Amino acid sequence: MQRPIGIFDSGVGGTSIWREIKKMLPYEHTLYLADSANAPYGERSKEEIVQLSVKNTKFLLEHDCKIIVVACNTATTNAIDHLRASYKVPFIGIEPAIKPAALQTKTKKVGILATKGTLSSSLFHNTSKLFAEGITVLEQEGKGLVELIEAGEIDSPTMQELLKKYLDPMLQQDIDCLVLGCTHYPYLIPQLKKMLPSNITIIDSGEAVARQTKAVLEKGNLLQVAKNTPRHMLFTNKDIGVLKKLVNDPIAEIAYRDF
Ligand code: SIN
Repeated sequence: MQRPIGIFDSGVGGTSIWREIKKMLPYEHTLYLADSANAPYGERSKEEIVQLSVKNTKFLLEHDCKIIVVACNTATTNAIDHLRASYKVPFIGIEPAIKPAALQTKTKKVGILATKGTLSSSLFHNTSKLFAEGITVLEQEGKGLVELIEAGEIDSPTMQELLKKYLDPMLQQDIDCLVLGCTHYPYLIPQLKKMLPSNITIIDSGEAVARQTKAVLEKGNLLQVAKNTPRHMLFTNKDIGVLKKLVNDPIAEIAYRDF
């Protein structure tokens, strides 16, 4: 039970999921890997994404993690089947929140912003087919957004321009829900709220993933029940400054590691 929850992402974005896990499971230790040196995964081949996901998993298992959260939509959609087939530890993945969007939309039109790697995956297409029957899902690749977030450019003029370019066509087609299909994108919510009309609901997967992590830990009798003081270690293989700024949490131990 004392073993940490392992979390990895192609970079800093998965800390949006780490934050939700920390909130829902306040006594759990966590170990987060930001594979920023290899970001973005969304522009890579499936084989490369699998290889990188295996590398991250091995590191987390060497550090005795009891469960692994793949806090990256692109890695989930391309590599989680391989990981589950290769390792005994439970894996939690991030699927684009198509189902809640399909349940909420009144215009029957939902926009999804995600990486090329996610939008082209079979898991994404199967999820859309399964949960969005009768709903038009407008897909938009968020090319360049992950790179800007990784560079710490959350609110730069380039970011504003890209967001406008990606959102306008979806707005013209009358969407009323916008699904954030990449764990980096919740960091853009303040900007998105300024740019989107008030009737648009922004949906991300963070809380649902934390709930699912809790349920799987409970089921496996792995939940930390003692009122423990948790240790949160976050490793990056690139720029420690960007990770520190985004996480902005004095109890987080942030360090460079060449993993
Ligand atoms: C990326 O590395 O391209 C984005 C990560 C994600 O899909 O969540």
